[in-house]
Amino acid sequence: MSTALITGASSGIGEAFAQQLAAEKHDLVLVARSQAKLEQLAQDLQSSHGVQVEVITQDLTQADGPTRVWEALQAQGKSIDLLVNNAGFGDYGRFVENSREKQLNMIQLNVLALVDLTTLFLPPMLERGQGQIINVASIAAFQPLPYLAVYSATKAFVLHFSESLWGEYRDRGIEVLAVCPGPTKTNFFNIAGFDPFKSAEEAEKDAVSPEYVVQEALSALKRGEVTIVPGGLSNQVVANVHRFLPRQTIVQAVEKQFRPS
Ligand SMILES: NC(=O)c1ccc[n+]([C@@H]2O[C@H](COP(=O)([O-])OP(=O)(O)OC[C@H]3O[C@@H](n4cnc5c(N)ncnc54)[C@H](OP(=O)(O)O)[C@@H]3O)[C@@H](O)[C@H]2O)c1
Repeated sequence: MSTALITGASSGIGEAFAQQLAAEKHDLVLVARSQAKLEQLAQDLQSSHGVQVEVITQDLTQADGPTRVWEALQAQGKSIDLLVNNAGFGDYGRFVENSREKQLNMIQLNVLALVDLTTLFLPPMLERGQGQIINVASIAAFQPLPYLAVYSATKAFVLHFSESLWGEYRDRGIEVLAVCPGPTKTNFFNIAGFDPFKSAEEAEKDAVSPEYVVQEALSALKRGEVTIVPGGLSNQVVANVHRFLPRQTIVQAVEKQFRPS
């Protein structure tokens, strides 16, 4: 039986990964801070799918968070076949007015924890000659976003890091996938303090479900793809517009669109 570790499994896209991977009969390790939510989810998945689910309650903005997760699994002799680096958050606003602590925590979670978990879990996959890593980036990875400056930079990092690892290890049995969702119906926008939609109707029309994002991601992984942008035309345009317009023009347009009122 294969075991998948999912960070940020307590809600949104991470929870959808847990649901769909359990349905595919993977044993799971669920990581996030919300212990009660993780334990409830673990109980539900164990009884509905008959898989083993372990909960590790860990704040991954703590510098030793990834090591603690690794050590907890080492102590049980548990190996990980699929690592899903999904935990992340954004923070909207003018860079100089945003909380310094929140920006640094964002880099710690979206970038450093993701790299550190990969550093820990990739070598044993290489020894076994097989393994899979899914990193959740964003369509924010494809262009700079004024007023989400640190967030878009962290996601550009995740995209480049994932594609580089795919290039380095694809001949050694390792599959790496960068998932780049557009607006998705999760807690993300509440936590980022940002509502990109003009109305509830627009949000309903333009944002996809986390279940859809995960379906697309798992299908892309099975096809051996390196990057997937789930969603319709508008997401594909955002992900590809940098091929056709000068970067400066894009940044100016995005600045107008995202400028705080
Ligand atoms: N929703 C979107 O529109 C969208 C679009 C593109 C990309 N994404 C990316 O998708 C990923 C998942 O976000 P989501 O949309 O599903 O949002 P979400 O519902 O807010 O989920 C975020 C998850 O990350 C976990 N998390 C946050 N801080 C953490 C910490 N310090 N340590 C450990 N876990 C932490 C949260 O759990 P706890 O609070 O329990 O710790 C939660 O499970 C993120 O990387 C996000 O950047 C989202």
